[in-house]
Amino acid sequence: MIEQGEIMNHRDLRFHSFVIRILDINDIPQVMALQDFVLGLLKNRSFCVPLSPEEHYQIMSGNGETLGLFIGEKLYAVCSILFPGHRVDNMARQLDFSEEELFRVAQLELSIVHPDLRGNNLQKKMAEKLASRAQKNYRYLFTTVSPYNYPSIKTVTSMGLNIAKLCNMYYQWDRYIVYKDIIKPLELEKSNVIHVPNTSFKEQQQLFDQGYVGFSQFKDEEGIKIIFAKKLRG
Ligand SMILES: CC(C)(COP(=O)(O)OP(=O)(O)OC[C@H]1O[C@@H](n2cnc3c(N)ncnc32)[C@H](O)[C@@H]1OP(=O)(O)O)[C@@H](O)C(=O)NCCC(=O)NCCS
Repeated sequence: MIEQGEIMNHRDLRFHSFVIRILDINDIPQVMALQDFVLGLLKNRSFCVPLSPEEHYQIMSGNGETLGLFIGEKLYAVCSILFPGHRVDNMARQLDFSEEELFRVAQLELSIVHPDLRGNNLQKKMAEKLASRAQKNYRYLFTTVSPYNYPSIKTVTSMGLNIAKLCNMYYQWDRYIVYKDIIKPLELEKSNVIHVPNTSFKEQQQLFDQGYVGFSQFKDEEGIKIIFAKKLRG
């Protein structure tokens, strides 16, 4: 068991006892049911790429780790990390990492929280647990995020990951490539930042080309803005 405690269910407004533990292949049917339910509620399907039962199996049987949060027997939240090695879907390939460096990459794959438990920052909490377990053996933490998925952008930037690229992935969906070098984090020139709407792809591409990365975000009446700063090195 990884953690236990009390958590607020925002539907019934009560605290419930929860347990977070590492999932194994016997949990796959419950994971698929939660994934289908949560993704079925999404207005924008491109927010989250579902994993197949086979992909969950691979992660749970040695190529990564999945955490699950339960209240009683019921699964409410899932978060997965993959150690992709030389696989084609290693996200660091998008940043032209060497074959050797690819083996030092851990990538957050999927996080889903049942609507009843939203508002507890569970995505961040579970992703941070996976990241801190992985950082003993892996140097780079990667993930991809939809430019329109505000809670996820917020989670990853608050974990210290930087938005390094914008591209099309998976079903040609727009994705930010987001990463952190755990040993040598990027140093940024934060005295001189630029705010860009998440939908201004051309302007963001220009900033990436000029050595900027996204490191934070906010929402105003016009929508989501990403905050960019220039890399001092790296
Ligand atoms: C993304 C997801 C996992 C986040 O769940 P969560 O950890 O419970 O998120 P929370 O509700 O606690 O919100 C996290 C932060 O985003 C903010 N937030 C959430 N929804 C928001 C919205 N619609 N607008 C603005 N801010 C929002 C919250 O205020 C919170 O910020 P805070 O820390 O400053 O309070 C959950 O929304 C989900 O399962 N979504 C569907 C699947 C998905 O998109 N997964 C991610 C990619 S695989």
